[in-house]
Formats: sequence, structure tokens, C-alpha cells
Amino acid sequence: MTGVASSNLVLTLYLVSAVLFIVGLKGLTRIRTARRGNIISSLAMLIAIVATLIDLGTFSPTWIIAGVVIGGAIGAIVAVRVQMTAIPEMVALFNGCGGGASALVALSVIWFALFEKQQDAGVALLSKADAVTTMLSVFIGALTLTGSVVAFLKLRGWISGQPILIPGRHVLNGLLILGSLGITAYFVMNATDPSQMSLLTLVVCGLSLVLGIFLVIPIGGADMPVVISLLNSYSGLAACATGFVLSNNVLIISGALVGASGLILTQIMCKAMNRSLANVLFGGFGAEETTPGGGADARDYGPVRSYSAEEAAMVLESASSVIVVPGYGLAVAQAQHAVRELGDLLEKQDVDVKYAIHPVAGRMPGHMNVLLAESDVPYEQLHEMDQINPEFRNTDVVLVVGANDVVNPAASKDSASPIYGMPILEVHNASSVIVIKRSLSPGFAGIKNELFEYDNTMMLFDDAKKALQGLVAELKEAAG
Ligand code: TAP
Repeated sequence: MTGVASSNLVLTLYLVSAVLFIVGLKGLTRIRTARRGNIISSLAMLIAIVATLIDLGTFSPTWIIAGVVIGGAIGAIVAVRVQMTAIPEMVALFNGCGGGASALVALSVIWFALFEKQQDAGVALLSKADAVTTMLSVFIGALTLTGSVVAFLKLRGWISGQPILIPGRHVLNGLLILGSLGITAYFVMNATDPSQMSLLTLVVCGLSLVLGIFLVIPIGGADMPVVISLLNSYSGLAACATGFVLSNNVLIISGALVGASGLILTQIMCKAMNRSLANVLFGGFGAEETTPGGGADARDYGPVRSYSAEEAAMVLESASSVIVVPGYGLAVAQAQHAVRELGDLLEKQDVDVKYAIHPVAGRMPGHMNVLLAESDVPYEQLHEMDQINPEFRNTDVVLVVGANDVVNPAASKDSASPIYGMPILEVHNASSVIVIKRSLSPGFAGIKNELFEYDNTMMLFDDAKKALQGLVAELKEAAG
């Protein structure tokens, strides 16, 4: 193949890959098309790798193929073995790898360019645009690496999940950012001395590694999913900058897509948790928040109505419409198959069954969607919060399975509540509410839920899976 034909082929493959990335990402915006979106995006990645191998021309592709095989094998093993509740940890590590890889590529490109051109010292060794994008790639990539590692360690419990407040951290962060900016400006204006330039990139890399730690360490472990989403966006921006360094269009496009979608996801999560984006960007949130696990416990409650599985089954039997509200406890109990079995059974008895999904139910974006998809709950039965909220008023029974904060009426009624303003699923408007959880312990926000004391609420205290299996057994027995 001639040089021109080969470069045309590479450009065409990169274009196809970029379009497939966009189509794949579009697919990920809807539950029904998410699996297909994943497959299309993987195909786009494969095409991009093949194009890169062709583009390398005379270079041996051995290292790249070896990297793809080893990295792919590790990724496949990790993906198969990871528990659903540990996905945020895994994503944190992936983001860190992405950021670290971008920083390393930028560093290697600059050093390669500098040492190649050493004989010509005295003239500018990098264009101003290349100098800026290289430093950006190193800066964002390095802080994404350490920030993600800290997020991982917090989620794993290997360092304290509590906010660790370093005195004067805002000033320190400001100095680190200003120092990096100053060095970058000097680097761009004086790109003539190779050894000085190597040193400057390393200093910025070091400052940024420290900044990544300082930005994430003050944030409570339970708030990490939002931080991880933001770091995901950063890793995309780092890749995008690396794309400019390498003059690689597909890396620029895919990096920008990851950067933008990560930012959109962060915004959606912030809105659903009633936090502002500025609060996230300045890195101090979580520090002033309530302490998960603290706050209300059984002693803070007045009388609640505790029901047995048999009594709760009788309530369900007489219903003609049931809305199931899954929450974090469903994931902990791995009760997704049991909830599907109960839903199927009710449907056979002509009950209208729907599932209401709160955007931040569980501990990661789409947590409930993934769980319910695993047990093949039909997509058309899943309803987003805005869509389903008006329906609770006309519903006979709401079955809350391991959800707490996302159904807490304090969010709309109590202006002193830490979750005041957070949109909730308005389950209290239904005729009857059955809440399955093990005790009166609080959820993530660490606060009391007055729903449990309401007259139309019945508490079924048990592990979610056992409770649902109990309900199924009772309903089957009653049906004969
Ligand atoms: P939570 O408010 O955290 O409540 C979960 C409840 O599940 C707990 O009260 C717990 O009570 C119960 N539970 C735990 N294990 C159980 C089991 N084996 N069987 C039955 N119940 C069990 O959950 P939610 O309503 O889904 O709300 C999510 C919270 O996480 C929100 O505050 C949200 O802001 C926050 N958050 C979400 C995300 C994302 S992206 N989803 C990210 C960060 C934070 P017992 O111990 O009494 O059983």
C-alpha cells in the first residue's frame, strides 16, 4: 500500500471510529439501547487500535498488541469478578489509569521530541500550541491519577472514608494551581533548552500529583461517586489534550466525548443530590455534610407499624396497582431476582406492576437500572422519577425495597434537613406503603425518615431478599 493510500485508510478508519463512538454514547443514554451502545463503542475502540497500528507503518506493532492483550485480559478478569457494589471502585481505578496514561504519553512525546532535536538547541523546540497541550495533558492526567487512587482507597476502606481536612488546603491548592500555571507559561515562552524543559514538565507533573491528593482527600468516602464522575470527565479532558499532542483526531474526539459526558453526569448527580456544581468543583463538599451512619436510629422514632410477610402479602393480594421502589438495600441483599419473581407473580394475578427509579438510588449512576436489567425486568416497566411521581396518588401499594433517602418526605417538607431540596419519589402519596429494610437504621444521609411513622406505612423488617422470598411464598400459598 502506498503512503497516501495508507494515510487515507487511517483517516477513514479514524472517522468511522469517531462516528461509532458518538453513536455508541447515544445508545448509552437509554436503558433499552445501553447494551448495544456498549458493543458499538467497543467496536469503535477496536477500529481505532487497528488504525493506529496501520498508522505506525514501519514500526513494529508488537508492543501495542502485547499491551492490548495483557490490558484486555486484566480488564476482562476484573470486570467479570467485580461485585456490583464495587463498580465505583473499579471505575475510579480505570479513570486513574486513563489519566496516568495520558500524562505518560505526553511526557514521552515531549522527551522524545526534545532529545531528537537536541542538536538544534537555541531555537524553539515546540510550537506554543504543542507546549500548552502537552502541559495540560500532564497536569490533568497526573491529578486524575492520584485523585482517582485516593477515591479508590477511600471506597475500599484502605484509608479513612471520613473527610480528612488538611489545614489551609484551599490556599495550598491555589498555590499548586498557580505554580503549575506559572511554570507552564514560562515553558511555553522559553521552549529552547531541552534539559530545562524536561525538568519543568516533571515539576508540573509532581505538583499536579500532589494537587490530585489534596482535592479528593477532604471529601467523605460516601460522596465518592460524584467525585469519580468528575474525575472521569477529567480523564477524558486529559485524553483530549493528549490527542492534540499526538495530532490524533480520534483521541481528541473520544476524549472530548468522555469529558463532556462525565461533566453532564456529574451535573445530573449533583442535581439529584441537591448539590451545586461549584460546590463539587471547589472540592470541599462532603466535609460539611452529615456523617453517614450517624444521626437517627431506632430511638428517634415514635411508634411504627411492623408487619409480618403474611400480613404484607395480604395487602399486596388486594391491590390492583403496585409500584416497586428499589434502593441501595436491594443491591446489598442482591434481591433483584427475588423482586422480579414477586413482580411476575403479581402480574399473573392481574396487578399492574411498575418500577420507579430515582436517579441516585443506590451508590452509583444507573445502579438500579443495572440490577433490574440483570434480572430481565422489562424496560417498559421501569419509570423515571418525573414520569412516575404523579402516579403515586392513584396507586394502591408502593413496595419500597431497601430504599430510604430517596423516599424521605423531609426532602420537601423540612427546610432544616440536610437533604432539603433533593427531589424524591413521592411514595407517601400512595394508599399504602410497605417498606422492606432490616431495621430503622438511617440510609446514606444519616437522618431519620418520617415516612416510617406515617399511618399508611407498614414496615417489613428483614433482609430484602428474604422478605421478598417470604412474600412470594405467601402469595403462592394463598393462590393455592
Ligand atoms: P439509602 O438511603 O442509602 O438507604 C438504604 C437502606 O437500605 C438503608 O436504610 C438500609 O437500612 C437498607 N438496607 C441495607 N442493606 C439491606 C438489606 N440487606 N436488606 C434490606 N435493606 C437493606 O439508599 P437509597 O434510598 O437508595 O438512597 C441512595 C443514597 O445514596 C442517597 O442519599 C444518595 O444521595 C446517595 N448517593 C447516591 C449515589 C448514586 S450515584 N446513586 C452516589 C453517592 C451517594 P437497614 O440497615 O435498616 O436495612
